Amino acid sequence: MNKLVVDLAERSYPIYIGSGLMTDPELFKSFIRYRNVIVVSNTTVAPLYMAKLRSSLDSFCNVFECILPDGEEYKTLDSFNRILTEMLRKGMGRDSTVIALGGGVVGDISGFAASAYQRGVDFVQVPTTLLAQVDSSVGGKTGVNHELGKNMIGAFYQPRGVVIDTECLHTLPSREISAGMAEVIKYGIIWDSGLFEQLEKNMSDLLALDDSKLSSVIARCCSIKADVVHNDEKEGGIRAILNLGHTFGHAIENHVGYGVWLHGEAVAAGIVLASYLSFKRGYIDRSYYERIRKLLSDAGLPVSSPQGMNADDYIELMRHDKKVKSGTIRYVLPNEGGRSSIYSDVSDDEVKKIIENIDHE
Ligand code: NAD
Ligand code: GLY
Repeated sequence: MNKLVVDLAERSYPIYIGSGLMTDPELFKSFIRYRNVIVVSNTTVAPLYMAKLRSSLDSFCNVFECILPDGEEYKTLDSFNRILTEMLRKGMGRDSTVIALGGGVVGDISGFAASAYQRGVDFVQVPTTLLAQVDSSVGGKTGVNHELGKNMIGAFYQPRGVVIDTECLHTLPSREISAGMAEVIKYGIIWDSGLFEQLEKNMSDLLALDDSKLSSVIARCCSIKADVVHNDEKEGGIRAILNLGHTFGHAIENHVGYGVWLHGEAVAAGIVLASYLSFKRGYIDRSYYERIRKLLSDAGLPVSSPQGMNADDYIELMRHDKKVKSGTIRYVLPNEGGRSSIYSDVSDDEVKKIIENIDHE
């Protein structure tokens, strides 16, 4: 088992990574403070893992359950309210813990509910998708969607602990594994060229869920995220580099209709565009651009824009992204050597040229 710590002074917390951790009661006992616990999950994950998790909790906790419908479309204030209502009905007090058992959707809603219930109760993440294990369960971004925008309502609220059981990934559809891999590759590009090389060598083993290779990669990703969050918890600066590929990616998700492309798939095509822009600006050389594109493709991810999506579609949608500050679109662009920087001086014309020319290379 790997243990890491997200260092945030009095709000620091451990991340445990390993196979079979969900059925280790001592592990949960070590950081769950209160007897009353509510496990929030969904109709897909609960039948697979609720009993396992309860086998660790039932001996020392009074466990309630809240099972939400599955899907991004249920990441709403209604679901948030459903958790709060269930907690009130059960008479749960401030000495309670909310545990999220599921992917990023369950994690984000549950964390937000934990942040709001009686002004904040303990929160624990048990992420079950690759994306949630390497990204959304760490760092304290919680929230729900509003009909006028994705993730528009929420709070920064750190968990008390994160338990990553890599065994869960064996029931995850392979398309979801690939989507999570886009975020894994992102860490290699923005922070760690050694990780990038490791991914180039081992992608087929990772996609086949080789446990020791996968655990070590997940641990590396969490450790990078922990570093970034330690330096910039509320995204005043450096944390924005975690959004590599996301500006283009959000435009793609929006253009094709939410849920048609998975988030990671859109991010992958977005990373290719950001990398090409970087290459054209001379920040990276052609061979590195091509390696990035190949690695994403080897991970089973799309590396081109959706059919029929043109430069004007991108610009129009990117102008409405919540990350646009005072009318300026900020792009995270890869630099050489596992680094990246944020640029605010990219004109719409430059972006249009990139999008129009990339397929003619
Ligand atoms: P998800 O939570 O919708 O999970 C994907 C699908 O896999 C769902 O159908 C789910 O029920 C199913 N599933 C989950 N675990 C499974 C398992 N072990 N076996 C079988 N099926 C399983 O999607 P996701 O990709 O995990 O998360 C996406 C969400 O995360 C988005 O809402 C996004 O906004 C959010 N997010 C948040 C952050 C953050 O920092 N908080 C970061 C990135 C993404
Ligand atoms: N997923 C981006 C972040 O946590 O900041």
